[in-house]
Amino acid sequence: MSEVLIIEEIAATSGDGFIAKVTINRPDKLNALNQEVVGKLKEMCDYIESNDSIRCVVITGAGPNPAPEGKRPKPNSFVAGADITEFAGKNSVEIKEMFTDNAIEKIWNLSKPTIAMVDGFALGGGCEIACSCDLRIASSRAIFGTPEINLGLIPGYGGTQRLVHLVGYGRAMEMMMTGNNLSAEDAYRMGIVNHLCEPEELEKKTMEIAQTIAGKSMHTLRVAKRTIRASLDNGLTKGVEMEAVEFANLFDTEDQEIGVQAFLNRTNAEWKHR
Ligand code: COA
Repeated sequence: MSEVLIIEEIAATSGDGFIAKVTINRPDKLNALNQEVVGKLKEMCDYIESNDSIRCVVITGAGPNPAPEGKRPKPNSFVAGADITEFAGKNSVEIKEMFTDNAIEKIWNLSKPTIAMVDGFALGGGCEIACSCDLRIASSRAIFGTPEINLGLIPGYGGTQRLVHLVGYGRAMEMMMTGNNLSAEDAYRMGIVNHLCEPEELEKKTMEIAQTIAGKSMHTLRVAKRTIRASLDNGLTKGVEMEAVEFANLFDTEDQEIGVQAFLNRTNAEWKHR
């Protein structure tokens, strides 16, 4: 049986280090998140956090396998949600166990930059994985949605909270109350998607952005991520206070000195990542 999660390490073009490309690989089930995938995603997060050479993470779904003769091909999918077959017959205690300390929260809490590369369906838990990444790059055939309401459910991987921040209260309400899907264009217009491109350009565009990010100081990226994140939990005043502390602290780091000197000397910064 093939691995449900594939991790490839792509060399960063600037400095040493890698971009980790993580592919959820259950294309016959549209990459739906069963417990095996969820477990592997959690392991992947531990691995990425502990591996200092990984500078940026790209999460994607495997493309469809060739269709058997006489069968229609499966559609492209990022992730078509939690595996609904695992819901049948479960009670609240079992579901709480499955959804507590879950993989999507671990992705959200990664200190490193994360990008969702979305081609095809990003529904339910798929939309939530995408929203737990820092950026979303999508192809024109991406479809986003939170169809849980059609199952008598609501999103369970943080979607009710994170979508509000991405698209605003009214649009999040509409998505979650109607369960209607959004085209890639609509998702782009609403701010879910950072960049929209043709399917054949998706990998190139995503890797370009990943490479740009991977070329920065890891230390400064971590500080940037946690300071920007603080805006979601703090009021503006507290957030600006936190920024002032984080900003000043960067002046005690080697990478700040390296960056400023590189600018002044018109050279490229060789980051120490400290
Ligand atoms: N859980 C488990 N299996 C799923 C799945 C999910 N969330 N989404 C798709 N699959 C499986 C289908 O059961 C089917 O399996 P099979 O070929 O063994 O029968 C396979 O993936 C292909 O899906 P299919 O429904 O045949 O493709 P389609 O092109 O007709 O429709 C979707 C695509 C995405 C519209 C449809 O699969 C769908 O609505 N999926 C569920 C989305 C959802 O509600 N997600 C939130 C869950 S909380």
